[in-house]
Amino acid sequence: MNSENKIIDESKQGEAIMVETENLVSTSSTVKTKKLFLESYGCQMNFSDSEIVASILMNKGFTTTQNFEEADVIFVNTCAIREGAESKVRNRLNDFKRVKLKNPKALVGVLGCMAERLKTQFLEQEKLVDMVVGPDAYRDLPNLIEQAEDGHRAINVILSKEETYADLTPVRLGTNGVTAFISITRGCDNMCSFCVVPFTRGRERSRDPESIVNEAKDLFNNGYREVTLLGQNVDSYLWAGGGLSRRDPFGKKETLTEEQKANSVNFAQLMEKVAMINADLRVRFSTSHPKDMNDEVLYMMAKHNNICNNIHLPVQSGNSKVLEMMNRGYTREWYEERMKAIRKIIPNCGISTDIISGFCGETDEEHKDTLSLMEIVKYDYAYMFMYSERPKTLAERKYKDDVPEEIKKKRLQEIVDLQRKHSAIRTTEGVGKIHRVLIEGFSKKSDEMLMGRNEQNTVVVFPKQNHKKGDYVNVYADRCTPSTLIGEVV
Ligand code: 5AD
Ligand code: SF4
Repeated sequence: MNSENKIIDESKQGEAIMVETENLVSTSSTVKTKKLFLESYGCQMNFSDSEIVASILMNKGFTTTQNFEEADVIFVNTCAIREGAESKVRNRLNDFKRVKLKNPKALVGVLGCMAERLKTQFLEQEKLVDMVVGPDAYRDLPNLIEQAEDGHRAINVILSKEETYADLTPVRLGTNGVTAFISITRGCDNMCSFCVVPFTRGRERSRDPESIVNEAKDLFNNGYREVTLLGQNVDSYLWAGGGLSRRDPFGKKETLTEEQKANSVNFAQLMEKVAMINADLRVRFSTSHPKDMNDEVLYMMAKHNNICNNIHLPVQSGNSKVLEMMNRGYTREWYEERMKAIRKIIPNCGISTDIISGFCGETDEEHKDTLSLMEIVKYDYAYMFMYSERPKTLAERKYKDDVPEEIKKKRLQEIVDLQRKHSAIRTTEGVGKIHRVLIEGFSKKSDEMLMGRNEQNTVVVFPKQNHKKGDYVNVYADRCTPSTLIGEVV
């Protein structure tokens, strides 16, 4: 069965990017009757969750549609990380509400991170939707749809300490057939003071390593050649079996018995298990946390050629006082030391980051510390944001959001300008070198050119010749644009 879906990614500085999906494969033998339209916003974890949702509903006989006007059920998988992400979803729900004027039987539901906070508002006050479903309640979707069909408003926003959807096989949406994401943890225990995620996604829990390795093996056997292991903080992955993978309420690792310790799997060990599946399966991971990223992880990356030399290590700010107010658990000095360790153990490592401008009380001097840290690291890539106060967070309760909007904007622009310069420098460093590239498909501009990425995650474009998607090639880059290397296969 061929069907299509539509995904919107707003993670890149708030710009909406449409990704069309193709060739969804249903795993169900049930008669297919109802049509599902599924739209996703926010981080990669949300996109990954949508693949779980599609899997659950396709097993119940749903097919997907790209046209929301012909859908029986419309779901929006939402993001709450910044205010802008929330307002986008609200506008979209108003579009969907109009569908119900034409087809009163159509059901609209909100999934994901906005569910908990806005449940009453969406369901009861504004009557914008029929269903509200939190990120740990997707197994309940078939029941909730039935309830909504019977005219009841259906809601389940209960957060779980155990749910990892480990046994479900995600239906790959928007896939290029070469690269895929695998969730390894859910939730977050870190409580960064600006961040709403611990409230919307609940406590951190790790997924059974066996189910992760099996998912990666299946992907490889189906032609995929790259997996990205996903978690809010992959470095804190810990599986000790029997549900003991959780943290205690104070964010420390539970005390394991000697036997449990012997059988436990940490992130470096998990990465090795996935890397050992096949030397032709590339392994990436996101997101690392500076306070938890240890040398064991770096040495494991150095040990296996197929673990890509690329780390996304959000710094947020270059000033230790701001970092303390952000409750990040590290200082500027600690972060700089981690950078030195990366450069020493993996000399050729691509490094990207997240930066927030205008956090509560940030002075001009403190902002300059962020710029000076950027100068030291010279990131390959960065996601850059203005601080946006989120309800319930520690920062909202404890600090004043007192940096004026124009100042936040001005500082963000300085950060963006500097990053643009650094990205161009990093790309230029790749010119005159040979890159091992995994081919992902045609280049955006021409069907005569193919595109893929090198280990550092830089896009590389080259003439098609006889090469095809899923192949590895060595490309000699002889020129570049600010973000893309261009060359020929050698
Ligand atoms: N305001 C601005 N940016 C935020 N992020 C998380 N919460 C906020 C917020 N309240 C950014 C951080 C994080 C990334 C996923 O989003 O940089 O690393
Ligand atoms: Fe949010 Fe911090 Fe957890 Fe990342 S590590 S999800 S920024 S609380």
